[in-house]
Amino acid sequence: MMRGKVLIVDDDDIIRTVMRATLEHGGFSVVEASDGAEGLALFGAEAPDAVVSDVVMPGMDGFEFCRQLRSQPQSEHTPILMATGLDDEDSIAAAYEAGATDFTAKPINWTVLNHRVRYVLRAARAFQKLRESQQSLLVAKNAAESANRAKSEFLANMSHELRTPLNAIIGFSGLMIEELFGPLPEKYGEYVKDIHDSGSHLLTVINDILDLSKAESERMTLSECEVDLAEVVIGSKVMVQKMAADAKIRLDVTLEEGLPRMLADPTKLRQILVNLLSNAVKFTPEGGRVSLSVGRARQGVVLQVSDTGIGIAPDQIVVALSPFGQVESSMARKYDGTGLGLPLTKKLTELHGGTLELESVVNRGTVVTVWLPPERVIGASAAAVA
Ligand SMILES: Nc1ncnc2c1ncn2[C@@H]1O[C@H](COP(=O)(O)OP(=O)(O)OP(=O)(O)O)[C@@H](O)[C@H]1O
Ligand SMILES: [Mg+2]
Repeated sequence: MMRGKVLIVDDDDIIRTVMRATLEHGGFSVVEASDGAEGLALFGAEAPDAVVSDVVMPGMDGFEFCRQLRSQPQSEHTPILMATGLDDEDSIAAAYEAGATDFTAKPINWTVLNHRVRYVLRAARAFQKLRESQQSLLVAKNAAESANRAKSEFLANMSHELRTPLNAIIGFSGLMIEELFGPLPEKYGEYVKDIHDSGSHLLTVINDILDLSKAESERMTLSECEVDLAEVVIGSKVMVQKMAADAKIRLDVTLEEGLPRMLADPTKLRQILVNLLSNAVKFTPEGGRVSLSVGRARQGVVLQVSDTGIGIAPDQIVVALSPFGQVESSMARKYDGTGLGLPLTKKLTELHGGTLELESVVNRGTVVTVWLPPERVIGASAAAVA
Protein backbone atom coordinates (compact mmCIF):
# COMPACT_ATOMS: atom_id res chain seq x y z
CA MET A 1 0.00 0.00 0.00
CA MET A 2 1.31 3.46 -0.89
CA ARG A 3 1.30 5.68 2.20
CA GLY A 4 2.26 8.89 0.42
CA LYS A 5 5.16 10.75 -1.15
CA VAL A 6 7.95 12.12 1.04
CA LEU A 7 10.53 14.73 0.00
CA ILE A 8 13.89 14.27 1.71
CA VAL A 9 16.19 17.31 1.76
CA ASP A 10 19.73 16.64 3.06
CA ASP A 11 23.21 17.40 1.76
CA ASP A 12 24.57 14.08 3.09
CA ASP A 13 24.33 11.33 0.45
CA ILE A 14 24.53 8.55 3.00
CA ILE A 15 21.76 9.91 5.18
CA ARG A 16 19.54 10.32 2.10
CA THR A 17 20.22 6.77 0.99
CA VAL A 18 19.42 5.26 4.39
CA MET A 19 16.38 7.47 4.81
CA ARG A 20 15.04 6.53 1.37
CA ALA A 21 15.51 2.83 2.12
CA THR A 22 13.76 3.18 5.49
CA LEU A 23 10.82 5.17 4.14
CA GLU A 24 10.38 2.96 1.09
CA HIS A 25 10.41 -0.03 3.36
CA GLY A 26 7.66 1.68 5.35
CA GLY A 27 5.54 2.02 2.20
CA PHE A 28 6.34 5.61 1.19
CA SER A 29 7.56 6.79 -2.17
CA VAL A 30 10.53 9.13 -1.94
CA VAL A 31 12.04 12.06 -3.84
CA GLU A 32 15.38 13.61 -2.83
CA ALA A 33 17.04 17.01 -2.92
CA SER A 34 20.43 18.04 -1.54
CA ASP A 35 19.66 21.60 -0.40
CA GLY A 36 16.82 24.04 0.16
CA ALA A 37 16.74 25.56 -3.32
CA GLU A 38 16.64 22.18 -4.99
CA GLY A 39 14.03 21.09 -2.44
CA LEU A 40 11.75 24.01 -3.38
CA ALA A 41 12.02 23.22 -7.09
CA LEU A 42 11.32 19.56 -6.48
CA PHE A 43 8.37 20.38 -4.23
CA GLY A 44 6.82 22.34 -7.08
CA ALA A 45 7.33 19.48 -9.53
CA GLU A 46 6.42 16.54 -7.30
CA ALA A 47 3.87 17.92 -4.80
CA PRO A 48 4.93 15.57 -1.97
CA ASP A 49 2.66 14.84 1.02
CA ALA A 50 5.38 15.40 3.61
CA VAL A 51 8.90 16.78 3.92
CA VAL A 52 11.86 15.66 6.05
CA SER A 53 14.60 18.30 6.01
CA ASP A 54 18.06 18.72 7.44
CA VAL A 55 18.98 22.07 9.01
CA VAL A 56 22.59 22.79 8.06
CA MET A 57 23.05 22.66 4.30
CA PRO A 58 25.15 24.67 1.85
CA GLY A 59 23.15 27.31 -0.03
CA MET A 60 19.63 27.60 1.39
CA ASP A 61 19.50 26.08 4.89
CA GLY A 62 16.61 24.12 6.40
CA PHE A 63 15.05 27.07 8.26
CA GLU A 64 14.87 29.25 5.15
CA PHE A 65 13.59 26.30 3.11
CA CYS A 66 10.85 25.78 5.70
CA ARG A 67 9.89 29.47 5.73
CA GLN A 68 9.68 29.49 1.93
CA LEU A 69 7.43 26.44 1.91
CA ARG A 70 5.11 28.01 4.45
CA SER A 71 4.80 31.18 2.39
CA GLN A 72 3.42 29.30 -0.64
CA PRO A 73 -0.25 28.29 -0.74
CA GLN A 74 0.44 24.77 -2.07
CA SER A 75 2.82 23.96 0.84
CA GLU A 76 1.26 26.12 3.54
CA HIS A 77 -0.06 23.09 5.45
CA THR A 78 2.32 20.30 4.30
CA PRO A 79 3.82 18.50 7.30
CA ILE A 80 7.54 19.25 7.66
CA LEU A 81 9.85 17.30 9.97
CA MET A 82 13.16 19.05 10.71
CA ALA A 83 16.15 16.95 11.69
CA THR A 84 17.93 18.75 14.53
CA GLY A 85 20.29 17.74 17.34
CA LEU A 86 18.28 16.67 20.38
CA ASP A 87 20.30 18.89 22.74
CA ASP A 88 20.40 21.83 20.30
CA GLU A 89 17.48 23.74 21.81
CA ASP A 90 18.09 26.86 19.74
CA SER A 91 17.69 24.91 16.50
CA ILE A 92 14.55 23.20 17.79
CA ALA A 93 13.06 26.60 18.64
CA ALA A 94 14.16 28.03 15.29
CA ALA A 95 12.61 25.07 13.45
CA TYR A 96 9.19 25.64 15.04
CA GLU A 97 9.62 29.35 14.48
CA ALA A 98 10.20 28.74 10.76
CA GLY A 99 6.93 26.76 10.61
CA ALA A 100 8.12 23.16 11.02
CA THR A 101 5.40 20.71 12.07
CA ASP A 102 7.78 18.83 14.37
CA PHE A 103 11.46 17.95 14.72
CA THR A 104 13.18 14.61 14.61
CA ALA A 105 16.31 14.23 16.73
CA LYS A 106 19.68 13.51 15.20
CA PRO A 107 21.15 10.96 14.93
CA ILE A 108 17.91 9.76 13.39
CA ASN A 109 16.33 6.65 14.85
CA TRP A 110 15.30 4.96 11.60
CA THR A 111 12.56 2.74 13.01
CA VAL A 112 10.92 5.64 14.74
CA LEU A 113 11.18 7.87 11.65
CA ASN A 114 8.57 5.85 9.78
CA HIS A 115 6.11 6.20 12.64
CA ARG A 116 6.79 9.92 12.90
CA VAL A 117 6.16 10.48 9.21
CA ARG A 118 3.00 8.41 9.33
CA TYR A 119 1.80 10.34 12.34
CA VAL A 120 2.39 13.83 10.87
CA LEU A 121 0.67 12.74 7.68
CA ARG A 122 -2.34 11.45 9.55
CA ALA A 123 -2.57 14.63 11.60
CA ALA A 124 -2.18 16.78 8.48
CA ARG A 125 -5.04 14.91 6.77
CA ALA A 126 -7.27 15.33 9.79
CA PHE A 127 -6.54 19.07 9.85
CA GLN A 128 -7.20 19.24 6.13
CA LYS A 129 -10.61 17.63 6.63
CA LEU A 130 -11.37 20.10 9.41
CA ARG A 131 -10.42 23.03 7.20
CA GLU A 132 -12.63 21.69 4.41
CA SER A 133 -15.66 21.14 6.62
CA GLN A 134 -15.12 24.54 8.22
CA GLN A 135 -15.05 26.01 4.74
CA SER A 136 -18.26 24.29 3.65
CA LEU A 137 -19.95 25.33 6.90
CA LEU A 138 -18.96 28.89 6.22
CA VAL A 139 -20.36 28.70 2.69
CA ALA A 140 -23.63 27.22 4.02
CA LYS A 141 -23.84 29.85 6.75
CA ASN A 142 -23.30 32.71 4.28
CA ALA A 143 -25.91 31.25 1.94
CA ALA A 144 -28.42 30.93 4.79
CA GLU A 145 -27.73 34.47 5.95
CA SER A 146 -28.15 35.98 2.53
CA ALA A 147 -31.35 33.98 1.95
CA ASN A 148 -32.68 35.29 5.23
CA ARG A 149 -31.74 38.85 4.29
CA ALA A 150 -33.46 38.42 0.93
CA LYS A 151 -36.57 37.14 2.73
CA SER A 152 -36.61 40.13 5.07
CA GLU A 153 -36.11 42.57 2.22
CA PHE A 154 -38.85 40.90 0.22
CA LEU A 155 -41.22 41.13 3.18
CA ALA A 156 -40.31 44.73 3.82
CA ASN A 157 -40.87 45.69 0.18
CA MET A 158 -44.09 43.71 -0.09
CA SER A 159 -45.41 45.27 3.09
CA HIS A 160 -44.84 48.74 1.71
CA GLU A 161 -46.52 47.83 -1.57
CA LEU A 162 -49.51 46.42 0.28
CA ARG A 163 -49.86 49.31 2.66
CA THR A 164 -50.16 51.98 0.00
CA PRO A 165 -53.45 50.74 -1.54
CA LEU A 166 -54.73 49.96 1.95
CA ASN A 167 -54.43 53.62 2.86
CA ALA A 168 -56.93 54.38 0.08
CA ILE A 169 -59.25 51.57 1.15
CA ILE A 170 -59.22 52.54 4.83
CA GLY A 171 -59.25 56.27 4.16
CA PHE A 172 -62.14 56.36 1.67
CA SER A 173 -64.25 53.78 3.48
CA GLY A 174 -63.73 55.88 6.62
CA LEU A 175 -65.06 58.92 4.76
CA MET A 176 -68.06 56.91 3.60
CA ILE A 177 -68.83 55.74 7.15
CA GLU A 178 -68.89 59.41 8.17
CA GLU A 179 -71.34 59.97 5.28
CA LEU A 180 -69.56 63.23 4.56
CA PHE A 181 -71.15 63.63 1.13
CA GLY A 182 -74.62 62.43 1.99
CA PRO A 183 -76.29 59.33 3.40
CA LEU A 184 -75.71 55.80 2.12
CA PRO A 185 -78.40 53.17 1.76
CA GLU A 186 -78.40 51.01 4.91
CA LYS A 187 -76.99 47.87 3.26
CA TYR A 188 -74.10 49.87 1.77
CA GLY A 189 -73.41 51.32 5.19
CA GLU A 190 -72.86 47.81 6.55
CA TYR A 191 -70.66 46.83 3.63
CA VAL A 192 -68.56 49.93 3.96
CA LYS A 193 -68.01 49.19 7.64
CA ASP A 194 -66.90 45.67 6.70
CA ILE A 195 -64.50 47.07 4.13
CA HIS A 196 -63.12 49.48 6.70
CA ASP A 197 -62.73 46.82 9.43
CA SER A 198 -61.16 44.26 7.12
CA GLY A 199 -58.77 46.85 5.74
CA SER A 200 -57.75 47.93 9.23
CA HIS A 201 -57.20 44.33 10.28
CA LEU A 202 -55.09 43.65 7.21
CA LEU A 203 -53.04 46.73 8.02
CA THR A 204 -52.20 45.49 11.52
CA VAL A 205 -51.18 42.10 10.10
CA ILE A 206 -48.93 43.76 7.54
CA ASN A 207 -47.44 46.05 10.16
CA ASP A 208 -46.68 43.05 12.38
CA ILE A 209 -44.98 41.21 9.52
CA LEU A 210 -42.97 44.29 8.69
CA ASP A 211 -41.97 44.82 12.33
CA LEU A 212 -40.96 41.23 12.85
CA SER A 213 -38.89 41.06 9.67
CA LYS A 214 -37.23 44.33 10.63
CA ALA A 215 -36.49 43.03 14.11
CA GLU A 216 -35.17 39.73 12.76
CA SER A 217 -32.86 41.40 10.29
CA GLU A 218 -31.67 43.66 13.14
CA ARG A 219 -32.80 46.75 11.29
CA MET A 220 -35.26 47.81 13.95
CA THR A 221 -34.11 50.62 16.18
CA LEU A 222 -35.58 52.11 19.33
CA SER A 223 -36.76 55.72 19.46
CA GLU A 224 -35.70 56.19 23.03
CA CYS A 225 -36.92 58.88 25.34
CA GLU A 226 -37.76 59.38 28.98
CA VAL A 227 -40.89 57.37 29.58
CA ASP A 228 -43.46 57.55 32.35
CA LEU A 229 -44.56 53.95 32.82
CA ALA A 230 -47.90 54.96 34.28
CA GLU A 231 -48.77 56.76 31.05
CA VAL A 232 -47.83 53.79 28.91
CA VAL A 233 -49.80 51.43 31.13
CA ILE A 234 -52.92 53.58 31.07
CA GLY A 235 -52.64 54.02 27.31
CA SER A 236 -52.42 50.25 26.84
CA LYS A 237 -55.29 49.56 29.19
CA VAL A 238 -57.54 51.91 27.20
CA MET A 239 -56.79 49.98 24.03
CA VAL A 240 -57.98 46.62 25.39
CA GLN A 241 -60.70 47.79 27.75
CA LYS A 242 -63.54 47.48 25.28
CA MET A 243 -62.36 44.08 24.09
CA ALA A 244 -62.31 42.87 27.72
CA ALA A 245 -65.73 44.33 28.49
CA ASP A 246 -67.24 42.73 25.36
CA ALA A 247 -65.79 39.37 26.40
CA LYS A 248 -67.06 39.86 29.98
CA ILE A 249 -63.61 39.67 31.45
CA ARG A 250 -62.41 41.66 34.42
CA LEU A 251 -59.32 43.74 33.72
CA ASP A 252 -57.20 44.78 36.72
CA VAL A 253 -54.16 47.01 36.63
CA THR A 254 -51.77 47.36 39.57
CA LEU A 255 -49.02 49.95 39.46
CA GLU A 256 -46.47 49.93 42.24
CA GLU A 257 -46.03 53.37 43.78
CA GLY A 258 -43.01 55.48 43.00
CA LEU A 259 -42.13 53.75 39.76
CA PRO A 260 -39.01 55.22 38.17
CA ARG A 261 -38.94 56.88 34.79
CA MET A 262 -37.46 54.68 32.07
CA LEU A 263 -35.28 55.21 29.04
CA ALA A 264 -37.34 53.32 26.46
CA ASP A 265 -39.35 53.46 23.27
CA PRO A 266 -42.88 54.29 24.48
CA THR A 267 -44.61 53.08 21.30
CA LYS A 268 -42.88 49.73 21.48
CA LEU A 269 -43.53 49.40 25.22
CA ARG A 270 -47.21 49.99 24.54
CA GLN A 271 -47.08 47.43 21.74
CA ILE A 272 -45.64 44.90 24.21
CA LEU A 273 -48.40 45.49 26.73
CA VAL A 274 -51.24 45.62 24.20
CA ASN A 275 -50.09 42.37 22.59
CA LEU A 276 -49.90 40.59 25.93
CA LEU A 277 -53.17 42.02 27.23
CA SER A 278 -55.08 41.23 24.05
CA ASN A 279 -53.76 37.66 24.09
CA ALA A 280 -54.82 37.31 27.71
CA VAL A 281 -58.32 38.59 26.90
CA LYS A 282 -58.53 36.53 23.71
CA PHE A 283 -57.65 33.26 25.38
CA THR A 284 -59.69 33.65 28.56
CA PRO A 285 -63.31 32.47 28.68
CA GLU A 286 -66.17 34.68 29.78
CA GLY A 287 -66.16 35.57 33.48
CA GLY A 288 -62.40 35.25 33.73
CA ARG A 289 -59.87 37.73 34.88
CA VAL A 290 -56.85 39.44 33.34
CA SER A 291 -54.39 41.41 35.42
CA LEU A 292 -51.45 43.62 34.61
CA SER A 293 -49.00 44.52 37.33
CA VAL A 294 -45.96 46.75 37.06
CA GLY A 295 -43.32 47.05 39.74
CA ARG A 296 -39.65 47.14 40.62
CA ALA A 297 -37.65 43.93 40.53
CA ARG A 298 -34.04 42.85 40.11
CA GLN A 299 -33.00 46.55 40.15
CA GLY A 300 -35.04 47.00 36.96
CA VAL A 301 -38.75 46.93 36.27
CA VAL A 302 -41.06 43.98 35.79
CA LEU A 303 -44.29 44.00 33.77
CA GLN A 304 -46.53 41.02 34.28
CA VAL A 305 -49.72 40.02 32.48
CA SER A 306 -51.66 37.09 33.91
CA ASP A 307 -54.96 35.54 32.99
CA THR A 308 -57.28 32.78 34.14
CA GLY A 309 -57.63 31.46 30.61
CA ILE A 310 -57.19 28.26 28.68
CA GLY A 311 -53.40 28.10 29.15
CA ILE A 312 -50.77 26.59 26.88
CA ALA A 313 -49.44 23.03 27.16
CA PRO A 314 -45.71 22.90 28.05
CA ASP A 315 -44.71 21.48 24.67
CA GLN A 316 -46.67 24.19 22.84
CA ILE A 317 -44.91 27.14 24.42
CA VAL A 318 -42.12 27.16 21.80
CA VAL A 319 -44.79 27.07 19.11
CA ALA A 320 -46.60 30.04 20.63
CA LEU A 321 -43.35 32.03 20.73
CA SER A 322 -42.36 31.37 17.12
CA PRO A 323 -43.56 33.41 14.12
CA PHE A 324 -46.98 32.32 12.85
CA GLY A 325 -47.13 29.75 15.66
CA GLN A 326 -50.63 29.20 17.00
CA VAL A 327 -51.72 26.54 19.41
CA GLU A 328 -54.57 24.39 18.13
CA SER A 329 -57.59 24.61 20.39
CA SER A 330 -61.21 25.35 19.80
CA MET A 331 -60.95 28.55 21.84
CA ALA A 332 -57.84 29.81 20.09
CA ARG A 333 -59.49 29.52 16.70
CA LYS A 334 -62.59 31.42 17.76
CA TYR A 335 -60.53 34.57 17.24
CA ASP A 336 -58.59 35.60 14.25
CA GLY A 337 -54.93 36.36 14.53
CA THR A 338 -51.73 35.69 12.72
CA GLY A 339 -49.47 34.27 15.39
CA LEU A 340 -47.09 37.22 15.20
CA GLY A 341 -47.94 38.99 18.46
CA LEU A 342 -45.84 36.92 20.87
CA PRO A 343 -42.65 36.59 18.80
CA LEU A 344 -42.79 40.30 18.05
CA THR A 345 -43.35 41.11 21.72
CA LYS A 346 -40.34 38.99 22.63
CA LYS A 347 -38.18 40.80 20.05
CA LEU A 348 -39.36 44.21 21.24
CA THR A 349 -38.49 43.23 24.82
CA GLU A 350 -35.04 42.01 23.78
CA LEU A 351 -34.47 45.20 21.84
CA HIS A 352 -34.82 46.96 25.21
CA GLY A 353 -32.24 44.58 26.68
CA GLY A 354 -34.99 42.77 28.56
CA THR A 355 -36.24 39.19 28.70
CA LEU A 356 -39.67 37.65 28.29
CA GLU A 357 -40.82 34.58 30.21
CA LEU A 358 -44.00 32.63 29.67
CA GLU A 359 -45.46 30.26 32.25
CA SER A 360 -48.73 28.50 31.72
CA VAL A 361 -50.96 25.77 33.06
CA VAL A 362 -53.64 24.32 30.81
CA ASN A 363 -57.13 25.38 31.92
CA ARG A 364 -55.68 27.47 34.74
CA GLY A 365 -54.08 30.38 32.97
CA THR A 366 -50.97 32.04 31.66
CA VAL A 367 -48.45 34.46 33.12
CA VAL A 368 -46.16 36.42 30.84
CA THR A 369 -43.37 38.33 32.55
CA VAL A 370 -41.30 41.04 30.90
CA TRP A 371 -38.13 42.02 32.74
CA LEU A 372 -36.63 45.38 31.85
CA PRO A 373 -33.00 45.72 32.97
CA PRO A 374 -31.58 48.27 35.46
CA GLU A 375 -29.89 50.20 32.61
CA ARG A 376 -33.36 51.32 31.52
CA VAL A 377 -34.18 52.94 34.86
CA ILE A 378 -33.56 56.68 34.94
CA GLY A 379 -34.38 57.67 38.50
CA ALA A 380 -37.18 57.28 41.00
CA SER A 381 -40.30 59.37 40.38
CA ALA A 382 -43.56 59.58 42.21
CA ALA A 383 -45.76 58.33 39.36
CA ALA A 384 -49.26 57.98 40.72
CA VAL A 385 -51.37 54.84 40.70
CA ALA A 386 -53.82 54.56 37.83
N1 LIG B 1 -52.54 34.27 27.23
C1 LIG B 1 -52.62 33.17 26.46
N2 LIG B 1 -53.32 32.09 26.84
C2 LIG B 1 -53.40 30.99 26.06
N3 LIG B 1 -52.81 30.87 24.84
C3 LIG B 1 -52.09 31.91 24.41
C4 LIG B 1 -51.95 33.11 25.17
N4 LIG B 1 -51.16 33.96 24.49
C5 LIG B 1 -50.84 33.32 23.34
N5 LIG B 1 -51.38 32.09 23.29
C6 LIG B 1 -51.21 31.10 22.21
O1 LIG B 1 -50.05 31.43 21.47
C7 LIG B 1 -50.38 31.67 20.12
C8 LIG B 1 -49.49 32.76 19.57
O2 LIG B 1 -49.81 34.01 20.14
P1 LIG B 1 -49.59 35.32 19.28
O3 LIG B 1 -49.93 36.49 20.08
O4 LIG B 1 -48.22 35.23 18.69
O5 LIG B 1 -50.60 35.09 18.06
P2 LIG B 1 -52.14 35.40 17.93
O6 LIG B 1 -52.64 36.12 19.13
O7 LIG B 1 -52.81 34.11 17.55
O8 LIG B 1 -52.17 36.34 16.67
P3 LIG B 1 -51.72 37.89 16.61
O9 LIG B 1 -51.13 38.23 17.94
O10 LIG B 1 -50.70 37.92 15.51
O11 LIG B 1 -52.94 38.62 16.31
C9 LIG B 1 -51.85 32.01 20.11
O12 LIG B 1 -52.43 31.72 18.87
C10 LIG B 1 -52.38 31.11 21.21
O13 LIG B 1 -52.55 29.81 20.72
MG1 LIG C 1 -51.64 37.85 19.87
